[in-house]
Amino acid sequence: MKKIAICGKGGVGKTTFTSLLVHALAKEGNKVYAIDADPNPTLAEALGFPAETIEEITPIIDMKQLIEERTGAKSGEYGSYFKMNPNVKDIPVEYSVSKGNISYLMMGCMRGAGKGCACAENAMLKALVTHLMVKEKETVVMDMVAGTEHMGRGTAEAVDALIIVVEPGMRSIKAAKEFAKMANVLGITKMFVVGNKINTPEDEDYIKSNMANFTIAGFLPQTSEAVKAEREGTVLYETSPEMKKRIFKILEKLS
Ligand SMILES: Nc1ncnc2c1ncn2[C@@H]1O[C@H](COP(=O)(O)OP(=O)(O)OP(=O)(O)O)[C@@H](O)[C@H]1O
Ligand SMILES: [Mg+2]
Repeated sequence: MKKIAICGKGGVGKTTFTSLLVHALAKEGNKVYAIDADPNPTLAEALGFPAETIEEITPIIDMKQLIEERTGAKSGEYGSYFKMNPNVKDIPVEYSVSKGNISYLMMGCMRGAGKGCACAENAMLKALVTHLMVKEKETVVMDMVAGTEHMGRGTAEAVDALIIVVEPGMRSIKAAKEFAKMANVLGITKMFVVGNKINTPEDEDYIKSNMANFTIAGFLPQTSEAVKAEREGTVLYETSPEMKKRIFKILEKLS
């Protein structure tokens, strides 16, 4: 499994989980491309990139000129012909920031309804995700935006597996099932569920019984360390031995 997208309802812990997964994969000797596909990007902080570095990052989507050059289409234009496979070979190197074997790319905000066609941006994103990795020991992990409406073909077609994060509550489980439906339509067959913010064995049981048809890759506890990491901008993977242990267990299940 080389390209993994993380999705789930707002606030369930997608970014927290993604940061743990990225660190675990990197620790195992993989080169990891961490793609922040959320228009409100927070993954860089969770991964422990310094604030000065984060400030300097230009989201790929904001590189209007670059996208225009590569796709042959002006962003926001309807009905124009554009290249489906724009050249993106240099983008991971030129536009990412790196720390050890983790490279971070910020996609930025895809325009929503009524703001013109996002075809050019979508083509670019798809090409980028498709192009990334393929080499041995390289992985792409994508932190997605919360709503299912954003799960377009551009992103989804290019991934091998989807991890849906849920918390022990009906709403996030309902949302997870929507994500799964969408993923099926888009042809993603490999899907896993991760239960986050677990307090009691009953919490685990609740998720197990309500998601009986899903493969559950594992559970992460609700912990003050996660809150602290978010508040203080520290790296949860480094501050919580428990989370570290759990993420490796989940990783085993994924492979
Ligand atoms: N296991 C946990 N224990 C305690 N707090 C947690 C845990 N996981 C996440 N949180 C907290 O919940 C909040 C949301 O987490 P996070 O940002 O990872 O979720 P998200 O799904 O990425 O949210 P968004 O939909 O806004 O992108 C954060 O304040 C985070 O610290
Ligand atoms: Mg997030």
